[in-house]
Amino acid sequence: MSDNNATLTVGGATKDYAVMDGSVGPQVIDVRKLYANTGMFTYDPGFTSTASCESGLTYIDGDEGVLLHRGYPIGQLAEESSFMEVCYLLLNGELPSKTELDDFITTITRHTMVHEQLTTFYRGFRRDAHPMAIMCGVVGALSAFYHDSTDINDPLQRKIASHRLIAKMPTIAAMAYKYSVGQPFVYPRNDLSYTANFLRMTFSVPAEEYIPDPVIVDAMDKIFILHADHEQNASTSTVRLAGSSGANPFACIAAGIACLWGPAHGGANEAALNMLREIGTVDKIPEYIARAKNKDDPFRLMGFGHRVYKNYDPRATVMQKTAKDVLEKLGVNDPVFDVAKELEQIALNDPYFIEKKLYPNVDFYSGVILSAIGFPTEMFTVLFALARTVGWVAQWNEMISDPAQKIGRPRQLYTGPTQRDYVSVDKR
Ligand code: SDX
Repeated sequence: MSDNNATLTVGGATKDYAVMDGSVGPQVIDVRKLYANTGMFTYDPGFTSTASCESGLTYIDGDEGVLLHRGYPIGQLAEESSFMEVCYLLLNGELPSKTELDDFITTITRHTMVHEQLTTFYRGFRRDAHPMAIMCGVVGALSAFYHDSTDINDPLQRKIASHRLIAKMPTIAAMAYKYSVGQPFVYPRNDLSYTANFLRMTFSVPAEEYIPDPVIVDAMDKIFILHADHEQNASTSTVRLAGSSGANPFACIAAGIACLWGPAHGGANEAALNMLREIGTVDKIPEYIARAKNKDDPFRLMGFGHRVYKNYDPRATVMQKTAKDVLEKLGVNDPVFDVAKELEQIALNDPYFIEKKLYPNVDFYSGVILSAIGFPTEMFTVLFALARTVGWVAQWNEMISDPAQKIGRPRQLYTGPTQRDYVSVDKR
């Protein structure tokens, strides 16, 4: 608690509200008693000035372009750590010892298979169904198969459900891809790493074994780290809100997947690559920059701008470097990457983008890498959901353990009709 208060005078009454300090970042004004004291609500559509909870998982300084997971900078984690280690860190709060990491990896590995009957769910979808639609359906159905880990009041069941979700998302995601291309599902293997296992389940076929290239495994693992968690973003807030009602973890994660799908959020990686392909060549960039600045044109530069970052998204920095490395090592010369780099340079020197502090975000370059690896654009947001599952699960666990948390139930500013009497149809 800070030693200063916020004083509010409204309706002729003056009240003090406690100012609370975090370990770093903006203080908060505790307005939990505002309605009881004043009969008024705060009004904050989009929650631009609202802290919905207390959290120790991820810290973002949008002005400085800083992203920390349990205090560790994202750049260091991306370069030095592994996705499994970052999962352990987010779930447990500290980097693991070698033994702790090995035990965690073994636990996750042992949960990678899915119930065999789950395969029948896929056959109910059209082959051309968007894989995110499949993810929403299949993950939401998991509670019907893993009912023994749905009691949110049992810490052991919460732990097992958390491990199951992290472990099974790659299998479910790979199955969604296989179904979309009419190839048979590939079972996970316990002798492969988390990320290599996912790549093999995605690209291996019965006629030809897929040996994951260490360069691609490393790039994919880095991409998973960059997407692992991101404070109280829209999909994480969705998971927390769903969880606050006591919904089971599988239903909560399915809700997060649905929210992530939106093009303003996780769907932006698919939209960004489609946009770069539509631009096609560097000479077309000015036309699209003009459209992005035109208030009457709904077009926006996908992969640009962010609610919190008013500086370069530190994940985009790593992503651009990874894109360069992967394209060079694979010998891929993708003109889209050149368009992306040129677009970034033009935008970052344009007064509109400078004034509005619009920079590339995590979604701007990711599609270039994923496309080079061989994923179709429809799979990009699925990969985002796969990686973000650990963040959603860690935030969900933190919420349940928070004594201050209760069911989320925002109020409103009502501007509809005041009370009036019903008029029968013959009198209207
Ligand atoms: C993710 O929250 C998270 O942490 C999300 C995420 C995560 O890891 O979970 O980081 C992942 O979702 C990244 C963002 C991916 N989305 C996109 O790339 C889509 C394109 N970006 C925009 O739609 C937008 O920037 C948002 C949605 C990301 C942020 O929107 P805000 O914070 O609500 O800002 P805004 O819409 O009020 O924009 C402020 C101004 C507006 O102009 P004015 O009305 O003030 O004149 O900037 C303009 C906007 O028109 N603007 C853009 C723009 N983004 C904002 N103009 C052109 N192109 C853009 N991309």
